[in-house]
Amino acid sequence: MKIKDWLFDHKNTLDADIILAEVLGKDRTFLVTHEDQELEGDELECANRMAAERESGMPLAYVLGYTYFYGRKFFVEPSLVLIPRPETEDVIDLIKELRPKSILDVGTGSGCIGVTLAFELPGSNILVSDIHEQNFELVSKNINEIAKNERLESKLSFVKSDLLRDINEKFDVIVANLPYVDEKWNWLDKDALSHEPSDALYAEDGGLKLIKELIDQAEEKQAAKHLVLEADPCQHKDIVSYAENHGFKHTKTKGFIVVFELV
Ligand SMILES: C[S@@+](CC[C@H](N)C(=O)[O-])C[C@H]1O[C@@H](n2cnc3c(N)ncnc32)[C@H](O)[C@@H]1O
Repeated sequence: MKIKDWLFDHKNTLDADIILAEVLGKDRTFLVTHEDQELEGDELECANRMAAERESGMPLAYVLGYTYFYGRKFFVEPSLVLIPRPETEDVIDLIKELRPKSILDVGTGSGCIGVTLAFELPGSNILVSDIHEQNFELVSKNINEIAKNERLESKLSFVKSDLLRDINEKFDVIVANLPYVDEKWNWLDKDALSHEPSDALYAEDGGLKLIKELIDQAEEKQAAKHLVLEADPCQHKDIVSYAENHGFKHTKTKGFIVVFELV
């Protein structure tokens, strides 16, 4: 089958051109300039499989196996890690302003926050944690992929921990994009989220259970000079009030991110 015929057959498939270009290892312009090129058997098989996944509603990042975060490529796997979101990129700018030497990224998932900071802040000491140890293989893969083009000049380590339970060090910054979605929100597109691991998305107590627990633990352990937390803007008022009653002062809000300083 020719490229142009495959594209015609998939004219109603979202991102069909991106999928075919990925299978061929080319950019989308190639599809136009080589529309009469015949697809090989394995190329056709792979493109058909990926198109079927996309048609079933799987997000493009999972179909391709990667996405971009703060300009770098991060591999992702369905049911294992959340797809990094553009709103989380503000975390990186806010933390760079704080010029921290030591950072803990709680609930690292794909590693997008901790790994990006390791490359953006050379010389820093970064610990990434998650309740799921199996994520760390993917985090390592992401570090190695980026390190093909950029030198890693920070110390980066991993620890499995339920929030701060197994962590006793102190940090300049603790950053966390924990699950904060309340399953009862009526604006949720649950189908769109169905390919992502539910324990990376949902939390009880209006979505605030884990965030409040983290604030409690950070206060008790005096674990961080700064806390940088992501949550839906509709939750910020409650988070600010909770943190201000637990030893932290609210210093900044940007998009989905709230920043606190230990009092
Ligand atoms: C919303 S995802 C964020 C992933 C990544 N940091 C990002 O920004 O894309 C939340 C992450 O928190 C982890 N997690 C959930 N409960 C946790 C807990 N009690 N302690 C530590 N990590 C937890 C999940 O496994 C998941 O990787």
